[in-house]
Amino acid sequence: MPKVKTLEDLFQAGLKDIFFAEKKILTALPKMAKAAINQDLRAAFEKHVAETEEQVSRLEQVFEEIEAKPQSKTCDAIMGIIAEGQEIMKDYKGSPALDNGLLASAQAVEHYEICQYGTLISWANELGLKESVRLLRQTLAEEEKTDKSLTALAEAVVNQEACSEPAGIESEEET
Ligand SMILES: [Fe+2]
Ligand SMILES: [Fe+2]
Repeated sequence: MPKVKTLEDLFQAGLKDIFFAEKKILTALPKMAKAAINQDLRAAFEKHVAETEEQVSRLEQVFEEIEAKPQSKTCDAIMGIIAEGQEIMKDYKGSPALDNGLLASAQAVEHYEICQYGTLISWANELGLKESVRLLRQTLAEEEKTDKSLTALAEAVVNQEACSEPAGIESEEET
């Protein structure tokens, strides 16, 4: 008979999923930072690279508490979100709307993470994994803060740029 799967199994599977996702995000964020036109947006992405590195190491500590070795399992959801982001970078290269597109895909990433960490925290709570709850909450707070600052950037700066003329493009002179 197949082994009856438990909440522990579900928790560990979720950890592998988000461990994969965080490492994938770590490769995507520097590219997004490089592509960003707005300097504040670039800085926000760069700041989140450092935070994401820390989040990966927190997940390693969570694996430690459940006495499992840190492992990744392909997360199709994050692969899809990041692929769409890459498409935007390609399609909107040189366009003033590029930053809006980057913001949208970055927020899709954050929302996915917020959803996953919320679930993992409730399961860790249920399983009595105190240290994991503490670590996962720290990460969730960072994801929420990042999402908020991206919203503020979208409202304050970037939306204005999308409506303006593209910078650095010379107008054609009539002769
Ligand atoms: Fe993250
Ligand atoms: Fe994040």
